[in-house]
Order: sequence, then structure tokens, then C-alpha cells
Amino acid sequence: MILMNDFQKEYRFFKPQLDKTIDRCLKSGWYILGREVSEFEQNFAKYTNTKHAIGVANGLEALQIALMALGIGEGDEVITVSNSAVATALAISNVGAKPVFVDVDEYYHMDYKLVEKAITKKTKAIIPVHLFGQIVDIEKIVRIAKKNNLKIIEDACQAHGASFRSKKAGSFGDVNCFSFYPTKNLGAYGDGGVITTNSKEIYEKCLRLRNYGQSNRYEHTEKGLNSRLDELQAAILNLKLKKLDLLTKKRQQIAEVYFKHLRDIKEIKVPKQRKNSNHVFHLFVIEAESRVSLQEYLKDNGISSLIHYPIPIHKQKAYSEFNSIILDRTEMLAKTILSLPIHPFMTNQEAKKVCMVIKSFYQWRNRQKRKISIHPAGNFSEGIKI
Ligand SMILES: Cc1ncc(COP(=O)(O)O)c(C=O)c1O
Repeated sequence: MILMNDFQKEYRFFKPQLDKTIDRCLKSGWYILGREVSEFEQNFAKYTNTKHAIGVANGLEALQIALMALGIGEGDEVITVSNSAVATALAISNVGAKPVFVDVDEYYHMDYKLVEKAITKKTKAIIPVHLFGQIVDIEKIVRIAKKNNLKIIEDACQAHGASFRSKKAGSFGDVNCFSFYPTKNLGAYGDGGVITTNSKEIYEKCLRLRNYGQSNRYEHTEKGLNSRLDELQAAILNLKLKKLDLLTKKRQQIAEVYFKHLRDIKEIKVPKQRKNSNHVFHLFVIEAESRVSLQEYLKDNGISSLIHYPIPIHKQKAYSEFNSIILDRTEMLAKTILSLPIHPFMTNQEAKKVCMVIKSFYQWRNRQKRKISIHPAGNFSEGIKI
């Protein structure tokens, strides 16, 4: 089976150092907010070329704390996209603010041309999402934010190591957020997240907010969360961060194989890459004709695939107040996109196999179509929906 992620292979790759790391951590007798977390925060700030990093419990709470640190809450509006993981919008709702969804561009990202129209007197911030591992049209969005005195929170949960003009994801906004959910390019062995910022004031506020709003022991200056990254996960992340660039290159090699062999299949669209952008291919997402049948065909041939995401946020039951708004591109994408397997432990041979199976699917489908057009009563005896 060609998997979306192969965590067993990943574990074998890291095992020798991982065993030592875990052993050291457990023997230390210190499990919450200690040396490992501080070290990881310093390393991650350095990696993103920012002044400060704050380890937190997950990506959702990273976003929530970022909003709280900017003083965003009840009565405020935050512009974001519906074409994202639901957590992007949940963070906004959880602080009592209102998400304002704009449609996406040809890179599946916030369309900057729609942002200005969405600004009202209540707008306080913009959350662009570097979806699938590529940075959004960030310079234009930063310009709009500056002009309108709005804050930017980057949702970089899918973009560890991505860059635009050599500037890393997580270094453009006022506060920026990452997730370390195991499937992410930098994943923990459990949940985790981090916030980056260049502001000392925001940094100090985030430190308090992740730890019950505590300023000194048992002294609470604001109402915070328990959103601490634990020592064990931080130690594991410290180890994995050292290999992030190497493993990103492996993802990019797989993407190259896909581009080479899929580009000419007219029934699918391969992802577009922005100029001056380093795409880290968290996901390799195609737009495919007959997606349902293609996904079944891939599965029958031992290939996993997923849809990110089948229901846009504004169409979710939890967001029923937005169900009637129309976001054409977002809604169209939800019906056609398909994420193919891509991870650092996949071989080029496996990627080629995925391409060959996709090719053979469309050849087969086109033969079926021809049969139907010659014999309108045509046989669907192979029983696959087209
Ligand atoms: C774009 C995006 N934002 C936010 C999140 C939330 O991260 P977490 O699952 O760590 O809460 C995720 C991860 O699922 C994500 O992909």
C-alpha cells in the first residue's frame, strides 16, 4: 500500500537518536516548561528568523492565543478563508470574534483582491493560510493590512520551512502559528504547536496566556489557557527540526516526479507554484475529473488518497450562519481536489506508480466513454461511476 504518511518508516529513521532523547527527557524528572521547551523555542525562532517562539499545545490554540494576545474578541471581525482546516475559523470563533470568509486564488490561497472589499469598521486582523505548504500572496496582503491598520496572523500550520523571497513562513505576520500534529512536515508524536513573533510585548503575553494567564507563580493577570507544549514533545521536535530541511527536499523530489509524469494528463491539473517561492509540499493536491472514480481506482491499486477538504468551513453545520454565502472557487475545489501521497519516506518508484495508475484510469475511462457514445444503451458492466 502506498500511504499518505508512513510513520513506521519515519520512526525507524529517527529511532536511534529518538531513544536517547526520550530516555534523557524521562530521566530528567522535569516534564512541563523546562529546558527542552526553552531550547526548542530558541531553535524554532532561529529557524524562522524571528525573535521569539512560544511552544503551545496545538495549532488551534496557537491561533487562539495569537488572537487573544492581539486583544481580539467579542464584536471584532477577522478576515480569513473557508478553504482551510476548520481550526482556522474555530480559533476566531473561540475568542468570540466573527470570521469573514473570502474566496481563494489559483494557488488555493486567500485572494488578496477580495480582502479590501471585506474590510469593515469591525475588522481587526487577517489570517491568511499557507495551505498545502506554499506561502500565500503575502506581500500584497501585508500591504493591505498596513494600509488599513490591521494585524496579520499567519496560519503556517501546513508550511514549516516554506519561504517567499528567502523569508520563512512564520516571519511575515505580527503573530504566526504552527501545528505539530503528526502528519505535519514537522510533526510531534502527539499534539503540539508554536507561535512566533518579533514583538517582545506579544511574546510575553503569549507566555502568560499559554499558562493560565500567570505572570508570577499563582499570580494571574489575565484569563489564560492550559496550552503548554510538554518537555517530551519539545525534545522530539528539537531532534526532528535538525532534519526538517533534508526531509523537505525528499518531499520536493517526489513532487518533481509527479510534475514530470502528470503534467500532460489533460483530465487533471497539477498544483501551481508561485515565483520566488519555496513550496514544501505538505500536500500534493491535484484537481481531477471524475474524482470519486479516480479515488476508488487508486484504492483498488493500493494507493491511498484524501480530500483536503471535502466540505468548506462555510458549508459546515457548525457554521450554519454562513451556509448561504457563496464562494465559487472554494466550493468548486471541494468537489474536484484530491491529495496524492507525498512524504519523505516515499520512493520515486512509488510516486511513478501513482502517476501510471492515474494515467491508466483516464485511458480506461475514456475507452468507457467512447463505448457509451457508440452504444447509447452501453454497458456499465464494470460497474464504476464515471
Ligand atoms: C491550516 C491549519 N490550521 C490549523 C490547524 C490546527 O492545528 P492542530 O491540529 O494542531 O490544532 C491545522 C491542522 O490541522 C491546519 O492544517
